[in-house]
Amino acid sequence: MNATTSDDFDVVIVGSGAAGLTLALRLPESCRVAVLSKGPLAEGSSLYAQGGISAVLDEQDSVHAHVADTLDAGAGLSDPDTARFVAARAADCIHWLIGNDVPFSRESSSEGAGDLHLHREGGHSHRRIVHAADATGRAVETTLEGMVRRRGNIHVFEHAMAVDLITTSRLGQSPRRCAGLYMLDTSTGDVRPLAARTVVLATGGASKVYLYTSNPDGATGDGIAMAWRAGCRVANLEFNQFHPTCLFHPEAKSFLLSEALRGEGARLLLPDGSRFMHRFDQRAELAPRDVVARAIDHEMKRLGVDCVYLDISHRDAAFIREHFPTIHERCLAFGFDMTRDPVPVVPAAHYTCGGVMVDHSGRTDLPGLYAIGEVSYTGLHGANRLASNSLLECLVYGTAAADDIAAALADAPPAPQLPAWDESRVSDSDEHVVVSHNWDELRRFMWDYVGIVRTDKRLQRARRRIDLLQGEIREYYGNFRVSADLLELRNLAMVAELIIGCAQNRRESRGLHYTLDYPETASESGPTVLTPSR
Ligand code: FAD
Ligand code: SIN
Repeated sequence: MNATTSDDFDVVIVGSGAAGLTLALRLPESCRVAVLSKGPLAEGSSLYAQGGISAVLDEQDSVHAHVADTLDAGAGLSDPDTARFVAARAADCIHWLIGNDVPFSRESSSEGAGDLHLHREGGHSHRRIVHAADATGRAVETTLEGMVRRRGNIHVFEHAMAVDLITTSRLGQSPRRCAGLYMLDTSTGDVRPLAARTVVLATGGASKVYLYTSNPDGATGDGIAMAWRAGCRVANLEFNQFHPTCLFHPEAKSFLLSEALRGEGARLLLPDGSRFMHRFDQRAELAPRDVVARAIDHEMKRLGVDCVYLDISHRDAAFIREHFPTIHERCLAFGFDMTRDPVPVVPAAHYTCGGVMVDHSGRTDLPGLYAIGEVSYTGLHGANRLASNSLLECLVYGTAAADDIAAALADAPPAPQLPAWDESRVSDSDEHVVVSHNWDELRRFMWDYVGIVRTDKRLQRARRRIDLLQGEIREYYGNFRVSADLLELRNLAMVAELIIGCAQNRRESRGLHYTLDYPETASESGPTVLTPSR
């Protein structure tokens, strides 16, 4: 942990991805801001984003078309107001990033400051993906990181993990609002309170709940679990997006092969070299992700094979190396030359469409608590997220929340005194194997029973297992000193329970939620909302 010794702030932001850092930078410099990151500042899904950020920047394109594509991918559950709110603000966000020197790719015919090069991805009716070759997230995240480190009003806490939110009701005070949080220094094991007039959750998604995922290790749903425990509603957690094309290799940790490859003509092949996507959707490889992931899952199960193949070798080798340098090199390191050969791929958990319910300013149900980025449910993604709409949502809501917080701070009460963390009844863990075993078990049964294709029986099996695990975790948490692994397991189990609950409530197939027991899409539907009991 570096930075300040002070323990109270105007705004504490939990998470330093695209959402958290945008918000930190968009707040006035008069605000005393803390940014917490449970690893190094830049680590998180944002850093690994490849394809890009969707925005209407071509005169042939329109905000109307971007909204229509978003609603179409969302399978009837995206909120049209939210889609319009986000799409209309996209170009401004891109210009803000360009103004801060994010090195986006330009058309090769122009020199330096020419038109932006736009990719196309599945579900988009136009080329509208702004990108920095195939490492867009790195370009955005490292630029924002540099800016944050230079800002005197922003105090950075790295290797600092939020444990739980503190509400005024817990302090016996009213009115009910968020008063701060407990923070674990993961290098020393110490926990201390951090008081705040406003807390923002920007903790990313929960795809680590599944055995195979494209996400980095920290995607454990901490913010969703903390908000739920603090009394906030969550929605649509049954909609887990599986990215169709992650590299299939035992040591690749599900490295992503960007959808932009299919946008540039890459084809999906069976082991015998034949194409199959046209049998599932007339858009073939450019169908939305849920369709493509399910088609791959279907073919893998039908043929009993471990993977399918992605082939872009018919494109010019120089084009591939120029547009996809990171992916090309990473594949080479695993022995696959994508300029010559098809590359083995499988689907993996990629994005959490649901989350903590918020309004257009990122406000949650708890006054003084906001949620932005992948942790939140804004209504944008509905039953399935359109590719490259996620970084955009981080930028738009980071900005909107900053404006709202800045306007509300004058009336926000001062941060209260907070009690120290109580360790009087716990001891050091005697059996860490309980934590590692439960991590593995949880992620495996979520993959097998709550994955791409679901049934009532599988969900019931998952429910029985999560109930058992929750009991064990509660007992462990009550008796032993906290560690990052234990906290993450506790949060993952909480989110798994919420995902199973949402999935059991939805008695139809729609977007990313597909169940053999209810294969039809209902004529009317709405979001699945879960309300915690207080
Ligand atoms: P993240 O960037 O995940 O950041 C979360 C932050 O929260 C981290 O700093 C983490 O340390 C911190 N944190 C979490 N819990 C705690 C805690 N308890 N205490 C303290 N800190 C905590 N989307 C697109 O739009 N376009 C793309 O091209 C694209 N490509 C992707 C490629 C990959 C491989 C992946 C994994 C995702 C991709 N996505 C893409 C999705 C997108 O990257 C994410 O949805 C987005 O970056 C989420 O940003 P975020 O700021 O909400 O969270
Ligand atoms: C990708 O590059 O395929 C990921 C894009 C996204 O998740 O939006």
